[in-house]
Amino acid sequence: MLFPLLPTTGGHGYVGKYTMDEIASRESLLKSPDFKERDGKPDFVSRFFEIRQEDPNKLTKMDIFTMCQSNIGAGSDTTAISLSAIVYNLLKHPETYRRLKEEIDKAAAQGKISNPISFKEAQELPFLQAVIKEALRLHSATGLPLARVVPEGGAMLAGKHFPEGATVGINSMGRTQKYKHLWGRRRYLAARAMA
Ligand code: HEM
Repeated sequence: MLFPLLPTTGGHGYVGKYTMDEIASRESLLKSPDFKERDGKPDFVSRFFEIRQEDPNKLTKMDIFTMCQSNIGAGSDTTAISLSAIVYNLLKHPETYRRLKEEIDKAAAQGKISNPISFKEAQELPFLQAVIKEALRLHSATGLPLARVVPEGGAMLAGKHFPEGATVGINSMGRTQKYKHLWGRRRYLAARAMA
């Protein structure tokens, strides 16, 4: 209801325009006979268009716009925060950086990665995956309670009973802090030495 009242320039208007431009550019790319999905499978934007082509009533243009814009919102700060945490920890731990560089250089020399690297190719690099996960553990991108609904019969959580239907959550950032005695707040891959 409020959507038409939002400003059309700057701030939200800018993100809206960017979203529309990107959707239009993908739509025309999909029509090109040379178009090829990077990982072989269609990504979510291509899937939206496929579904719409099968049945335009199932997914409206506004649905596609809303979902793309949600993904931009959900995926931009999270990605920037995660990349910052990864780069920060690599700079603090030169030995980990060296091992990561070695893994990437080797994969590149063997022709196993393209530029830019695809999601599928990145999954095949175990040390890179460990570096990403360890940085996310130390600095979670979200500070949200990640709410969940207690299932039928209720649940015992941290010694307390919660009735079914209750909403419970634990902040991903607080979790790393609270359990530092278990996981080692300052531990990084250098100490873990993924042999
Ligand atoms: C490193 C980057 C990212 C991090 C750390 C991250 C983190 C998260 C977390 C913690 C949640 C909540 C999950 C839950 O409640 O179980 C979430 C949900 C979500 N994320 Fe991400 N995200 C990232 C990148 C992205 C990207 C790139 C996109 C879109 C292309 C995206 C789209 C979404 C959407 C749509 C949801 C809601 C899913 C649902 O409720 O079913 N995220 N993300």
